[in-house]
Amino acid sequence: MTILHPVTGSESQTLLDAIGLTKRYGGQVALNAIDFSIAPGELVAVIGENGAGKSTFAKILSGAVRPDAGGLRVHGKPIELNAPRDALRHGISYIPQELAYLPNLTVAENLVVGRWPNRGGLTTRGRIHAEARRIAARFGIELDIGAQIAQLRLAERQLVEIVKALARDVSVIVLDEPTASLTSDESDNLFHVLRGLAQEGVGVIFISHRLDEVFDLADRIVVLRNGDVVANLEAAKATSQEVIAHMLGAAAEEYYERRDRQTRDGTVALALRNWTRIGLPNIVNFTLTLHRGEVLGLFGPRGCGADLIADGLAGRISDFVGEIELAGQARPIFRSTREARAAGLGYVPPERKREGLVMALPVQTNLTLHVLSSVSRFGWINRVRERRIAEEWRDRLQIRLRSVRQPVESLSGGNQQKVLLGSRLLSKPRVLVLNEPTRGVDVGARAEIHRYLRNEADAGAAILWVTSDAEEAVLVSDRLLVMRDGAIVGELSGPAMTQTNALMLATKEAA
Ligand SMILES: Nc1ncnc2c1ncn2[C@@H]1O[C@H](COP(=O)(O)OP(=O)(O)OP(=O)(O)O)[C@@H](O)[C@H]1O
Ligand SMILES: [Mg+2]
Repeated sequence: MTILHPVTGSESQTLLDAIGLTKRYGGQVALNAIDFSIAPGELVAVIGENGAGKSTFAKILSGAVRPDAGGLRVHGKPIELNAPRDALRHGISYIPQELAYLPNLTVAENLVVGRWPNRGGLTTRGRIHAEARRIAARFGIELDIGAQIAQLRLAERQLVEIVKALARDVSVIVLDEPTASLTSDESDNLFHVLRGLAQEGVGVIFISHRLDEVFDLADRIVVLRNGDVVANLEAAKATSQEVIAHMLGAAAEEYYERRDRQTRDGTVALALRNWTRIGLPNIVNFTLTLHRGEVLGLFGPRGCGADLIADGLAGRISDFVGEIELAGQARPIFRSTREARAAGLGYVPPERKREGLVMALPVQTNLTLHVLSSVSRFGWINRVRERRIAEEWRDRLQIRLRSVRQPVESLSGGNQQKVLLGSRLLSKPRVLVLNEPTRGVDVGARAEIHRYLRNEADAGAAILWVTSDAEEAVLVSDRLLVMRDGAIVGELSGPAMTQTNALMLATKEAA
């Protein structure tokens, strides 16, 4: 039976239908004839392992990728999308996993791009700022309107992108892992905005790897596996075990054994003494000690300064003063990334696109980038050896790809992150600094990475793990330092190392 849509009067109950969507890349099926529907006001989470086809699905809805077969309907009417502007015309707004932004424009200019306010052909800075401020205020989001996009942190750029999409007239909004780099406050804020939009009848499609937020937000959970829809569940009736089982295609195993043994042997692998830097936040006389065989977590909300400590250790920030002790020797702070690397310190940066990988080059080249000498001789790169090493790491980190000769840009987001991680682990650094290393990585592979790093620590490596994810902090750390406003405010270990304790320390108002 057909039902007239209450608002549009058209013959459909659904806002958007996808029918038999199929997409192949080379010989690989990214989407295998999937059907999908969303009703007005519905919040649907789409989840699945890295490479399951989530972003491909989102990109087809956005008009950025054309399906090989199948089609879309809006309010029951077939539509054809040849470009992103077609999707926008049909009220479909899309926030990509990898942000495309215009780095030299200001926040305000980014917000109003394509819809410049003008009077008599004149666009003034004042008018752009006023319009941008209006948009930001409408969604209760605080942004420095005049700042250049390139100067913002990733999370802030993401907020700009979200506000930009929300500012358009949308009937369906598609968000591809929008919270991967947001703090829990920012996520809550975003969820509040999304719930408000749903109440106005907007359909929200939300891709995420975080089951807690999926259950928090979604009415319905759609699970993709290897390009197929393998489950379509009512969120209120589903359990996370059930969802994980669908994702992995196997019963969810117990991923983590709680550790209570102390692996560190007391040898100091790395110490920071009296690191000081004036800025936001101020960091004054910051001191920490990392032992051999230890995974030391450094947890705090975004902006607490933990990422600055990581960047400072990697030689990426020039204005720290203080001392480093590395393998028993005192030495000045690294002044370049090369200097840090030469001293045996490995660093995994948080943002693969801007600083970690050469997107157009093959996976195997990216993986071996930092160990060139081991795959080259007299200036010649040994491709056979390069490939062998890459395939070994592909298996170790469960990187899903067709061939290690594929360019990194053709991998799914989570698999790109694994390549980045592999490229830094491959050189077997004695001291490893990880800055949000598992962002965008699915639960299965994440557990695999945790386990691998655990083994490295047990074999004597020293690992400093910077994260703003309380769950991960508690899972991976032998000992956890909690930061707030540029200072360590607590240390947790043993049974006291719980998410609740970590979050309480991190957010407690200064007495
Ligand atoms: N431009 C491309 N060229 C070749 N293969 C591609 C391209 N884009 C995606 N693929 C392949 O299609 C499959 C699905 O990728 P997709 O990006 O949709 O995964 P995903 O579910 O979003 O994963 P993630 O959680 O890692 O973001 C993957 O195997 C990926 O390698
Ligand atoms: Mg993706």
